[in-house]
Amino acid sequence: TRRLVIAVDGPAAAGKGTLARRLAAELALPYLDTGLLYRAVGRRLLDRGADPTDPVAAAAEACALTHEDLGRGDLRGPEADRAASAVATIPAVRAALLDWQRDFGQRHGAVMDGRDIGTVVFPEAPVKLFVSASPEERARRRWVEMQARGQALPLDQVEAEMRARDAQDSARSVAPLKPAEDAALLDTTSLDAEAAFAAALALVRARM
Ligand code: C5P
Repeated sequence: TRRLVIAVDGPAAAGKGTLARRLAAELALPYLDTGLLYRAVGRRLLDRGADPTDPVAAAAEACALTHEDLGRGDLRGPEADRAASAVATIPAVRAALLDWQRDFGQRHGAVMDGRDIGTVVFPEAPVKLFVSASPEERARRRWVEMQARGQALPLDQVEAEMRARDAQDSARSVAPLKPAEDAALLDTTSLDAEAAFAAALALVRARM
């Protein structure tokens, strides 16, 4: 039987993780944060002192990825952000993670958040959301999150790193960040988490 997959894509810090997690709880579906897969591959490379832009080393780490890697506590922060975005440009890494993501979704259905779920991983997903917000607002949210984790960086540096990562994610030749043609667009710039969830749930219900 085919399982329900809901794709939630968008740029960094648009609120898609919070939204996708709540949608999953509401609809009793498993949730997968696909960014964690890229983060964990990047982290494995950093651990070995390898270069996250090295395609051969990165592909090997993507193939060796374990479930334990995804539970690590050090997958967030500027270094992990950069490493994730670098390995995400490598076609062999994306190919290895594609199988992983499809298996997950096909097994029980899922709400999955990422950059290319609606365009590449599950192009036939019946429900696709593309969640965005202005770069200034996204940088502000990421800065608040980082403060809460004790990672104090100046706001303008957070914004500059986020814009660089968005540019890399949008410009890469494999699976670039862009809305699927049939995605519903949700701009959360002026919405709090509650309002964003209500809007997303309405869009999902209209498509189910
Ligand atoms: O969503 P998150 O910020 O955790 O993702 C980290 C990085 O992983 C992104 O900058 C992007 O380069 C990559 N990614 C991706 N495709 C996905 C999810 C994440 O390329 N589906």
